[in-house]
Amino acid sequence: MKKLFVTLVFICGSLAGSLTQAQTDKPMVKAPSTELYTALGGKESITRLMNDFVEILVVDPRIAKLFKDTKLKNLKEQLTDQICELSGGPCKYEGDAMKAVHEDLGITAAHFNALVEDLQMAMDQHGIGFGTQSRLLALLAPMHRDIIKPAR
Ligand code: HEM
Repeated sequence: MKKLFVTLVFICGSLAGSLTQAQTDKPMVKAPSTELYTALGGKESITRLMNDFVEILVVDPRIAKLFKDTKLKNLKEQLTDQICELSGGPCKYEGDAMKAVHEDLGITAAHFNALVEDLQMAMDQHGIGFGTQSRLLALLAPMHRDIIKPAR
């Protein structure tokens, strides 16, 4: 069931992304209002969510090795700013572009889906409802184009 949800979000987000992002590495597609930011509980809740999300990522055997050289404090901060801004909050993501960050990591669709499942797990643990989860995942899904390395 969870896999089906991930796949559906991925497909819907990809479709939305192709309508809004004709090329890669365009500016992020943001929520049109602050509603999602508020539903996520604001900056403090997003900070806690991202901290826990990263702790889940780094022990997930499907993807942990990709994070072995990563400064986790920085990753948590960058993700917090990014999700805060994307969801309509008063933050500014000042990290590198998604393509530049991920292009040498060899990330596959399976890695991407694993990360989405980990984010869902973190959101479940934080009591974030299904509708709010879907809206956040739909904003993230179009980014797969800049993150997944196409098979040659
Ligand atoms: C929509 C999905 C994703 C988003 C929004 C995202 C976002 C980010 C952000 C904001 C950073 C920090 C950038 C910076 O420091 O300037 C980052 C770094 C990183 N991401 Fe992602 N990411 C996503 C998917 C993935 C996936 C699927 C993987 C692998 C399973 C991954 C692995 C990494 C790694 C290893 C780094 C650290 C790179 C380094 O240490 O230099 N990301 N990501």
